[in-house]
Amino acid sequence: MRGAEDLETQASQEERLRRLAAAFESRFGRSPAAVAAAPGRVNLIGEHLDYNEGHVLPVAIDRSIMVAFAPRPDGQVRLYSLDFEQESAFDLEDIGKDPEAPWSDYVRGVAWALREGGHHLSGLDAALQGDVPVGSGLSSSAALEVAALGAFEAVSGLRLDRRDLALLGQRAENAFVGVACGIMDQMAAALSRAGHALLIDCRSLEHEAVPLPLGASGSGGGGGLSLVVADSGVRRALLDSQYNLRRQECQRAAELLAAAIAGRPVTALRDVRPEDLARHGGALPPNLLRRARHVVEEERRVLLSVEALRTGDVEAFGEMLNASHRSLRDDYEVSCPELDLLVELAWAQPGVLGSRLTGAGFGGCTISLVRAEAVEVFGEGVVARYCAETGREGRMYVCRAADGLRLHRLQRSP
Ligand code: GLA
Repeated sequence: MRGAEDLETQASQEERLRRLAAAFESRFGRSPAAVAAAPGRVNLIGEHLDYNEGHVLPVAIDRSIMVAFAPRPDGQVRLYSLDFEQESAFDLEDIGKDPEAPWSDYVRGVAWALREGGHHLSGLDAALQGDVPVGSGLSSSAALEVAALGAFEAVSGLRLDRRDLALLGQRAENAFVGVACGIMDQMAAALSRAGHALLIDCRSLEHEAVPLPLGASGSGGGGGLSLVVADSGVRRALLDSQYNLRRQECQRAAELLAAAIAGRPVTALRDVRPEDLARHGGALPPNLLRRARHVVEEERRVLLSVEALRTGDVEAFGEMLNASHRSLRDDYEVSCPELDLLVELAWAQPGVLGSRLTGAGFGGCTISLVRAEAVEVFGEGVVARYCAETGREGRMYVCRAADGLRLHRLQRSP
């Protein structure tokens, strides 16, 4: 890659919609009824807190999965992926995985979860296309699940509450695809609002849009801030096993602390306060103490971050991002040398208010909050240097905070 110049040029949304509709028409010989689009996400702060029932603060990004669809009366689902140039079809009465087309399992999974939830579904034809990079921790799978849910909802005449829709996406991923994720990614893909982050209480699933001080174009301007995603190019090899291990460690830490903390129920690490850890931390073996410390302090950082954003104290917010990275690196141990290098290069760069790994870790991306006028220099000083030092294909994207799931009715050409 070429560092500073690699600010991805994206086809405009209209252009993507037009191309997708044309592909649908040539594949299925008719026009699509509409296009469901759901975004990828980055998490600003609150990492590994969703399954500990704490707060998280993701942002939907302006990269999405689009599903153009039209109903079928015969209970069949026919899918065509433009990105994989591949078709996959199934019967709603008999939903299994397709090992030849694993991308289709997310669509199969949501159809399965909807039916299991008692919903009556119509079949459909669908053409799919995305510009969320796959495997880099920007939640392309949640985006696909949520977009597919939007398509099934529309063809089947359902009206799903957006929280329930997110839960169905998570259920598909947990029980059908077989990945033990939390609820953050699907909530972000379903419920985000442009220009805002989404504060989610992962216990009650209450959520609230928090305005972001990003430049109108996302790349700032007029002294604004930019949200820069840097992709390490490391595909997360250890992810599944280590992710599951962290979940188990947190559960065990919560059980041990529940036994030590009298008079108050502790069902998840969310219930543990900093002073509890100071008093009862001795009840935990050292590695579990480090995991619990990350969760307890990260929960505090999320709430302080929201306060800082509300009062416009972007420096304080940046400090929270930095502290979150140190905690993920040292206490939660989910970073890797490449992510640390990207973050350290960013920390040394003028105009960077904060930088941290985002998502599950072990590869994937970092996010940095960068003064708009410093974005170009960030490309040279961080991403190009990272590529030179590691020999990897790093990339960067300047992100806009986008809307969650949307349905686009297509303009017919005259
Ligand atoms: C992955 C999971 C999320 C969340 C993050 C870590 O993205 O899908 O549910 O646990 O990791 O914050």
